[in-house]
Amino acid sequence: HEADAYRTDLMTITRYVLNEQSRNPEARGDLTILLSHIVLGCKFVASAVNKAGLAKLIGLAGETNVQASVPGNTCHLSQFLVSEIEIGEEQKKLDVLSNEVFVKALVSSGRTCVLVSEEDEEATFVDPALRGKYCVCFDPLDGSSNIDCGVSIGTIFGIYMIKDKENVTLEDVLQPGKNMVAAGYCMYGSSCTLVLSTGNGVNGFTLDPSLGEFILTHPDIKIPKKGKIYSVNEGNAKNWDEPTAKFVEKCKFPKDGSSPKSLRYIGSMVADVHRTLLYGGVFLYPADKKSPNGKLRYTLSLLSASHFAYGTSNFILINNSEFTKSWNYSVLYEVFPMSFLMEQAGGQSFTGKERALDLVPTKIHERSPIFLGSFEDVEEIKGLYAAQA
Ligand code: AHG
Ligand code: MN
Ligand code: MN
Ligand code: MN
Repeated sequence: HEADAYRTDLMTITRYVLNEQSRNPEARGDLTILLSHIVLGCKFVASAVNKAGLAKLIGLAGETNVQASVPGNTCHLSQFLVSEIEIGEEQKKLDVLSNEVFVKALVSSGRTCVLVSEEDEEATFVDPALRGKYCVCFDPLDGSSNIDCGVSIGTIFGIYMIKDKENVTLEDVLQPGKNMVAAGYCMYGSSCTLVLSTGNGVNGFTLDPSLGEFILTHPDIKIPKKGKIYSVNEGNAKNWDEPTAKFVEKCKFPKDGSSPKSLRYIGSMVADVHRTLLYGGVFLYPADKKSPNGKLRYTLSLLSASHFAYGTSNFILINNSEFTKSWNYSVLYEVFPMSFLMEQAGGQSFTGKERALDLVPTKIHERSPIFLGSFEDVEEIKGLYAAQA
């Protein structure tokens, strides 16, 4: 059929969000505008991520690119591309650059009043003249340990509405995840995929590079009720708590005659969650015996060095720098958006104690253990925790 060869009726993400907006007579298009600014940020990061390998190829990463930065100098195309992702003469780490792009895109949308980013120790309060009613919590580039080897990474975001934009405080940001009005992620993988929920199911859009548009490719995503995959960093097994150890044992040696589950772990939350959403199964980052609230993790506070990428499991101690303790994963910009999407797709998300979206964070960079995925698989984990209690 010739009509099938080319799709001619393109459902772009903007068209989709506008359609959603028109279902709500009170909507004034603010969320549509905000989302289009997030989409712009994602396109920028997608393009920068694609160039990251080129920077390595010509050995310029972290060095000063003298040739390309001298005005009027002709330079090789790849040098030009590298210079484009440089600020001043030094090349910025991609996660820092991505953060700057998102902060600027969100502020300039005129629809936000407060921003919380993984890369910024403090929340950003938007200038009153540019204020709108939304709060956006985001991880501009998650999975940064995977950048240098070309493995999938992503951006995660969650959006809240703030009651009074004129008098916004940190308290307004510390809401349970179930109050989110929208959440999503963009995965920079073999293709660039943006998965979004505005509270009415989950839809996936793939960037068509020739059009520069995200096109609806995965309408109404529903996660399989039960999956054949479990996803966890098994290197931490020696410190797992009882319920986690029991669950993983059951995945490998099922006693009910079913086949063992397969293990898949990329180490990029966005990619691991995306696979879980499409194929089913469960993704877990449990608490452990040593750290009952999740993995102990250090974050450089008072960002003095723009070249410092937050470590995932390893970190470098820089003399005279200040470090604060925290846990994997961040509640506001990792646990909540992913849990929102999971529930919207018919799965569930659990912290080991409660429904993840019921959690009320007490600080903006609060962390929590997480178990999310297919409804029945998470149900099994909940059973193991209940049995222990
Ligand atoms: P980030 O790159 O934003 O600092 O976060 C990395 C996170 C997440 O993407 C990934 O799933 C996790 O760290 C991996 O942790 P382990 O290396 O401990 O498995
Ligand atoms: Mn992260
Ligand atoms: Mn990050
Ligand atoms: Mn980082």
